[in-house]
Amino acid sequence: MTTATAPAPKSRHAKPTVPDQKMLIGGKWVNSVSGKTFETLNPTDGSVICNVAEGDKADIDLAVKAARAAFETGPWSRMTPAERSRLMHKLADAVEDKRMELAALETLDNGKPIADALAADIPLSVQCYRYYAGWADKIYGQTIPINGPYFTYTRHEPIGVVGQIIPWNFPLLMQAWKWGPALACGNTVVLKPAEQTPLTALRVAQLAQEVGFPDGVINVVPGFGPTAGAALSGHMDVDKIAFTGETGTGKIVMTAAAQSNLKRVSLELGGKSPNIVFADADLDAAVEGAYFGLFFNQGQCCCAGSRLFVQESVYDEFVAKIAAKAKGRKVGDPFDMSNEQGPQVSQEQMDRVLGYIAAGQKDGAKMLAGGGRVGDKGYYVQPTVFCDVKDEMKIAQEEIFGPVMSILKFKDADEVLARGNKTMYGLAAAVWTKDVKKALKLANGLRAGTVWVNCFDVFDAGAPFGGFKMSGLGRELGQYALQLYTEVKTVTMAM
Ligand code: NAI
Ligand code: MG
Repeated sequence: MTTATAPAPKSRHAKPTVPDQKMLIGGKWVNSVSGKTFETLNPTDGSVICNVAEGDKADIDLAVKAARAAFETGPWSRMTPAERSRLMHKLADAVEDKRMELAALETLDNGKPIADALAADIPLSVQCYRYYAGWADKIYGQTIPINGPYFTYTRHEPIGVVGQIIPWNFPLLMQAWKWGPALACGNTVVLKPAEQTPLTALRVAQLAQEVGFPDGVINVVPGFGPTAGAALSGHMDVDKIAFTGETGTGKIVMTAAAQSNLKRVSLELGGKSPNIVFADADLDAAVEGAYFGLFFNQGQCCCAGSRLFVQESVYDEFVAKIAAKAKGRKVGDPFDMSNEQGPQVSQEQMDRVLGYIAAGQKDGAKMLAGGGRVGDKGYYVQPTVFCDVKDEMKIAQEEIFGPVMSILKFKDADEVLARGNKTMYGLAAAVWTKDVKKALKLANGLRAGTVWVNCFDVFDAGAPFGGFKMSGLGRELGQYALQLYTEVKTVTMAM
C-alpha cells in the first residue's frame, strides 16, 4: 500500500534580490526632490540590499499636498464607507496572496527569522486590514435628546491628512496597525517607514495601488527621522501624527506637533514590562512563556517581558530551566526555517545591546548564558540570561531591545506589585499563577495598558494595545483605535 505524501515543507527560503526603490507620492513612483538616496542593509552581513529614495522636507510637502487633495477633492472623498471597506478587503487579500514574497522581503531587510514572519507578522497584518475593513461602514455617531426644541446628533468624521511614523521591529505589522484604522475612518495617509526597513512598506503601497486605492490616499516617503520624520510631525497641514518608537523620540514628535498646528498625537512607545511568576504557576508553561516573551523577534519588542520576577521558592528551579533553554536557542541565517533567532536589525542596535550586557556584568548581575556576539559577521547576539538582577541596575530599568533576560527574585504579591510598577513605563505586564484571586489582584493593580495572565504576547486586531505613563498616548487596535482617527462633530438643529 502506498500513501500520498505531501511535499516536505521548505527548510530554507531563497534570499530575494531587490532593485533600487522610489517613493510613492500622489500615485506616482518618484525620486526624491534632492535626488538623494540611502542604502538599506542586510543585517546578516551588513551588505547593501539596494538604494532607496531619501525623502526630506520637500518630499513630505509634496506628499502632504497629494494627501490633502485626495482627502478634499479626490475620489476618496466621495467614496462610500462600503466602497472603502471593499478596497481594504482587497488589500488584505493581496497581502495574504503575496505572503511568501513579503515575508522574504521582511526577513531580508529586518533579519527576523522567516518562520516568524510567516507565523506572526503576515497573518497578524492580514487580520488587521480585514478587521478594519469590517469597521469602515460601522463608524457613526449618536442622536442625543438635549433640552429644548432641538435635534442634536454627532458625526464621526475623518480627521484629514494623517502622518504616520513607524519603527523597524515589525515593519509590515506597524504599517497595518496604522493604515487599518486610518483608512477605515476615511483619512488619507503619509507614511514614513523606518530608515532601517523601508522595503515592505513600499511593496504594500504598490499592492494598495494595484487593488485600486485612488492616487494620493496613501503616500510613502522613506527617509530619516530628524529630516523626513521631523518635517511630517511639524507640518502645518498634517492633521494628526501617529508614532511608534522610542520614548525620547515620542517626546520630540509631540513637541513638534505642539509647536506647529497642535495636530492630534498618538504614541506607542517603549516598555520595561514586568513578567511575574508565582510559585503556584504551571512552571513549565511559565518558563515557555517567559522565554518566548523575551527572546521573540531577537528581543526587539516594545512589550518584551524584560523584568522577569520569579517567586523565591521556585527561583532556582526556574532560573536553571530557562538558562538551559536560552543556551539551546538556534541562532543563525533567518532564511533557514529551523533558526529561532536572526541578527539584530543594525550595527547600532547590536552595539547598544552589547553595551547593556556589559552594564549588567559591571553592576554585578550573574550571567548564566550568552554574553557576546555570535561570530564576527552580521549583527547576531547570543541569547543572554542574567539572574540576581536588582531593581536599581541599569538592565532592570532601561529598554534593552535585545535578547537579554533579567531575572529578579521576589517574596510576595504586595512586594512584587509595588516593584513591578516602579518604572516610568506602563506598556504591558504578565502574571503566572493558578490562583484567581492573585491573578485579579495583579491584573487590577499593575499600571500597564495590557496585562496577560498565564500567557504572553497574545495579539489580536480586536484587542486594544497601548501604554500607561511614558509608554504612550492612546490605544491602537480594536474599536479604540477609531477614536484616534476621527473627529466628533455635534450638530444641533432648531426644530
Ligand atoms: P526611534 O524612535 O528613533 O525611531 C523610530 C521611528 O522614528 C523611525 O521611523 C525614525 O526614523 C523616526 N524618528 C527618529 N527621530 C525622529 C524625529 N526627530 N522626528 C520624527 N521621527 C523620528 O528608534 P530607533 O532610534 O530606531 O531605536 C532606538 C531605541 O528605541 C531602540 O533601541 C528601542 O529601545 C526603542 N524602540 C522602540 C520601539 C517600540 O516599538 N516601542 C521600536 C523601535 C525602537
Ligand atoms: Mg533614534
